[in-house]
Amino acid sequence: MSYQARMTPEEQNKALDSWQTSARYWDKYRVLIEQMFAPLTSGLIEEARIGIGQKVLDIGGGSGEPSLTISSIVGPTGSVMYTDPAAGMVESAQAEAHRRGLTNIRFRQCSADDLPFPDRTFDVAVGRLSAMFFVDPVKAVREALRVILEGGYVSFVVWGPKEANPFFSVIADVIDRFVEGPPEDSGARDVFRFAVPGELAGILQQAGAKHVVERRLDFQIEAAVSFEQFWQLRTEMSGTLREKMARLAPAQLPTVKQAVADAARRYFVSGTMNFPAEALIVSGRKSAV
Ligand SMILES: C[S@@+](CC[C@H](N)C(=O)[O-])C[C@H]1O[C@@H](n2cnc3c(N)ncnc32)[C@H](O)[C@@H]1O
Repeated sequence: MSYQARMTPEEQNKALDSWQTSARYWDKYRVLIEQMFAPLTSGLIEEARIGIGQKVLDIGGGSGEPSLTISSIVGPTGSVMYTDPAAGMVESAQAEAHRRGLTNIRFRQCSADDLPFPDRTFDVAVGRLSAMFFVDPVKAVREALRVILEGGYVSFVVWGPKEANPFFSVIADVIDRFVEGPPEDSGARDVFRFAVPGELAGILQQAGAKHVVERRLDFQIEAAVSFEQFWQLRTEMSGTLREKMARLAPAQLPTVKQAVADAARRYFVSGTMNFPAEALIVSGRKSAV
């Protein structure tokens, strides 16, 4: 089955504007983001077999992960090429790399489906929580395969189903009772676009990847944050939530927040947030045979 879920130019601009607005919040919460999603970075590094001396491409690097972590794994003999289409994200990641004194990372503002690199430039290509937002996922994976060496790995980590990820659903389910969501279609570009097992794997196969493997990763999203901090973080970082919150009448806000607090109570114990979470890591190889 061929995968058709391309975006119109208007949709592309709207999505990019939303990421551009998100950039300042992803920068604000960078320490928490790094901590909360660290298991995803470790999973990607393992699945893509990233090690000392490799040249790694990061696609949709946001405020800097997994690029910043991979920079220390590949060391001074290796290198990382961070990419993202949102200028604000690129600036934020670049500033952080500068603050940390990292010298083996380069930065390019570009979209996954049009990578400005010659064929066979990198050893591997990875994307953490970005594949769901690619304009044309098959084209993007073809591009990733084009720019890596024969035998290299491409690995993407995406969210599993909404029901297994209360970090998202605990707010979305309440807000959706008050505000109508955007119309759903099978190719909707939201965090759960590739939650169905096999979907992203099929895209990798369609793009020509060999030995495609899908691994389910169960982990905990853990950090020393209160419900109040979680509420602020989620409603600022997510473009979809920002849009929906703006459509609530001011008088509805306390009711919505209290309903979310009630639903989320069991995930906040003794000043620590602890959500069960599920992701999928989908990998394939550019085969020489
Ligand atoms: C959920 S964030 C993940 C960022 C980072 N990788 C992380 O895990 O913290 C998704 C990122 O995908 C980027 N993105 C959106 N559309 C993209 C595209 N067409 N190509 C590459 N990246 C894209 C966004 O700008 C954003 O930085």
